[in-house]
Amino acid sequence: MSSRQGESRPLMAAAEISRRSSVALSFIRRESKDGRSKGSDRIRGFLRREADKEPQERDPMAGGMMVSGGGPPRKYEGRTTGYVILTCILAASGGLMFGYDVGVSGGVTSMDGFLKKFFREVYDRKHSANLNEGNYCKYDNQKLQAFTSSLYIAGLVATFFASYTSRRFGRRPTMQIASACFVIGTVLCAAAQNMAMLIFGRVLLGCGVGFANQAVPLYLSEMAPTHLRGGLNILFQLAVTVGIFFANLVNYGTEKIDPWGWRLALGLAGIPAALLAIGGVLLLETPNSLIERGQMEKGKRVLQKVRGTPNVQAEYEDMVAASEVAKSVKHPFRNIVKRRNRPQLVIAMLLQLFQQMTGINAIMFYAPVLFQTLGFKSSASLYSAVMIGCVNVLSTIVAVAIVDKVGRRKLLLQAGVQMFIAMLAIGIILGVQLKDTGGLPNGSAIVVVVLICVFVSGFAWSWGPLGWLIPSETFPLETRSAGQSITVSTNLLFTFIIAQAFLSMLCHMKYAIFLFFTAWIVIMTLFVIFFLPETKGIPIEEMQGVWGGHWFWKRYVPYDPALEQEMQAKNAADVNPQQEKIAQAI
Ligand code: BGC
Repeated sequence: MSSRQGESRPLMAAAEISRRSSVALSFIRRESKDGRSKGSDRIRGFLRREADKEPQERDPMAGGMMVSGGGPPRKYEGRTTGYVILTCILAASGGLMFGYDVGVSGGVTSMDGFLKKFFREVYDRKHSANLNEGNYCKYDNQKLQAFTSSLYIAGLVATFFASYTSRRFGRRPTMQIASACFVIGTVLCAAAQNMAMLIFGRVLLGCGVGFANQAVPLYLSEMAPTHLRGGLNILFQLAVTVGIFFANLVNYGTEKIDPWGWRLALGLAGIPAALLAIGGVLLLETPNSLIERGQMEKGKRVLQKVRGTPNVQAEYEDMVAASEVAKSVKHPFRNIVKRRNRPQLVIAMLLQLFQQMTGINAIMFYAPVLFQTLGFKSSASLYSAVMIGCVNVLSTIVAVAIVDKVGRRKLLLQAGVQMFIAMLAIGIILGVQLKDTGGLPNGSAIVVVVLICVFVSGFAWSWGPLGWLIPSETFPLETRSAGQSITVSTNLLFTFIIAQAFLSMLCHMKYAIFLFFTAWIVIMTLFVIFFLPETKGIPIEEMQGVWGGHWFWKRYVPYDPALEQEMQAKNAADVNPQQEKIAQAI
């Protein structure tokens, strides 16, 4: 139990338990029209147990569509079984697949064989010394950008279908749809004979991303034992960065295989796709999803198998209760736009906008193209992209290690300064030294690569993982599912915009595009300073209190001490003997 200075531990524990329980119970109260709870005792019990947990023990996805059970871990039995390990491999393949798609397009669009086949005009422009298009405009081509961006717009649309299929049919069929899209999309792209085949392949890959990004994190959090759930959230992001890095390496290796190296690069996405497909066949449906769809007995059997013990009653009951809570929320999307949910909604959407406006995907998608713009040769460009991919992975590992110690705000603020300096310096160097023709002097080119690494490392331990983590821990029970869909699709929308616009913006704005991103970094850092409360270690049930105590958000979620007191008194009468016991035991 987190302790506050100046308070004795048992006292603090009792107060804390009472407070958490009261806030959790207020959910039931809000859902009830006549002031009395419609929820069953099981739901009350579940919410009380959830409220009693440490934040890191609490199910990060409990509620809404993303229900999953969980009482206090001390009451659950079970071990980390083979299934859980298989689940982690699955997580890796879903994340790897997304990352691979992010990383591979930049390399492929800089390869001559690919350009000659599909984008002849870009190829000619790239190789003609006479065409006076200038450095910055070599790759400015709407169709070339559509090759990259089509994946994200398809993913955006697919996310909403995935939200339906994973609730109605289960997580496993949703992952199977994802892997089928990935496999067919990969084959179409690798074998593409014309533009239509290529873009259709990318659209299918995008559908795969939409379905996988919705179902895989959900599957993971439901299958993993409670103590592994929070960590898996960031590990998914780590898998994404490994996928990008893997794609960078493949680009570097296949670029020399002319003229069909690009086919190999696009085709190797088949490895994570096949892994996900195998997972979709071999792995079981989650107990939570089975229970949610009324298959109670089967759900219990699966839970016993996954936990490796027949004694799963406590966890099973919590899952049943959580699924009842989920079912009691009739209109999650209508619910989420209510005034009291405004802070979470606005923050989740703005975090996605800001994450993309750091300019990260200008680098992730187009690093090889960008380096050629700076005058690098083809393989030096791809080699530099590999270095950047490596920095991205290593810095994400730093985030995994420190995010719960340092806190979200400090990481975002520190990284904001680091990214600001790096982007500004890149803009200034290019502005001063990169003319329309001729490359950068050698020394400056190396400095730019180093600055990009500095920028990427800052992103990877802040906006990269936190852009996903913060929304996942701020939406309350009743809007969690809708919130997650909105978060994913907003992210894909802005990813699409960057993918579709960056090369044209580079052509028109030249070096100033980097100053444009610098300005965004200032805006988002100010936003963090003034509008983003720290959420490290705050239980989900207490999040309303965080908004109520915030200078700005309290307009939307006024803090009501009277209600709080009333709930505490009611609750104290309700659960005090039990609290006393727990408090004494601590
Ligand atoms: C972002 C992706 C980005 C990746 C880079 C993720 O958090 O959502 O758009 O490509 O980080 O590592």
